Amino acid sequence: MGERTDRYRSEVKALQLGFDLGMTLVDTAEMYGEGRAESLVGEAIAGRRKDIFLVSKVYPHRATRSGVLTACEQSLKRLKTDYLDLYLLHWRGSTPLAESFEGFLQLKQQGMIREFGVSNFDLDDMEELAGVPGGREVFTNQVLYNLTRRGIEWDLLPWCRDRKMPVMAYSPVEQGRLPAQMDAIARKVNASRFQLALAWLLHQDRILVIPKAASEAHVIENRKALDIQIPEQILAELDALFPPPRNKSPLEIL
Ligand SMILES: NC(=O)c1ccc[n+]([C@@H]2O[C@H](COP(=O)([O-])OP(=O)(O)OC[C@H]3O[C@@H](n4cnc5c(N)ncnc54)[C@H](OP(=O)(O)O)[C@@H]3O)[C@@H](O)[C@H]2O)c1
Repeated sequence: MGERTDRYRSEVKALQLGFDLGMTLVDTAEMYGEGRAESLVGEAIAGRRKDIFLVSKVYPHRATRSGVLTACEQSLKRLKTDYLDLYLLHWRGSTPLAESFEGFLQLKQQGMIREFGVSNFDLDDMEELAGVPGGREVFTNQVLYNLTRRGIEWDLLPWCRDRKMPVMAYSPVEQGRLPAQMDAIARKVNASRFQLALAWLLHQDRILVIPKAASEAHVIENRKALDIQIPEQILAELDALFPPPRNKSPLEIL
């Protein structure tokens, strides 16, 4: 979002429609459109900041002790707010985690962020957290997770569940490329394949689901996914079409 001026107005409207329908978590990053997505979100949330759970992310190369403070200040300026609800390290780079977390802890102390977390961290990265100052305060891990990408169910997801850590599922509708074979199953619950994919994630504990929808029709359709109950039989059919993992695979990234 925010990358094309001709779509700017309709993207702001799509976000605001989502808020009106109760979808009040917004996920953005300094990387998206090199700041333009944050500026667009800033406009969309104007006047309703307190109703929004605002998430942004810092580039790994900026996530040094002092770099993270500058990056956050710049994000806040674009978002026209004075705090983030959650600030994530976008992926793991070469900066030692202890340094990034020192910056995050300082931001937290200053009230510029409420919580911090990580993104695209595999299990071995998560296991390192306990030994890093600030690592135990990591609030969430945002990773690629949808019906067609179930690898994290092998180890990463159970690990987070054991620790009661929410997982944020990004690209939950596989960037609009869910397979047509899902349609026959989706019809049985009067849903589209996109709604079924979202409902499947939402029926699980502690999964935060962040579909991107720039069109109002998609926003409305996605909101309705919250009301879909998936019977056991449908879950079994989905497992047959998209089998859960049978061994460890590296974390996928988009
Ligand atoms: N941490 C990370 O490294 C990372 C990586 C990727 C994404 N993310 C986050 O996750 C969010 C979502 O991921 P994503 O954009 O990659 O993938 P996505 O949400 O799975 O898919 C977005 C695409 O699906 C389309 N779509 C949405 N709802 C639909 C529906 N009901 N029917 C048909 N098509 C529909 C959208 O179209 P329209 O826009 O035209 O409505 C858009 O083209 C991003 O916005 C970002 O915040 C994070």
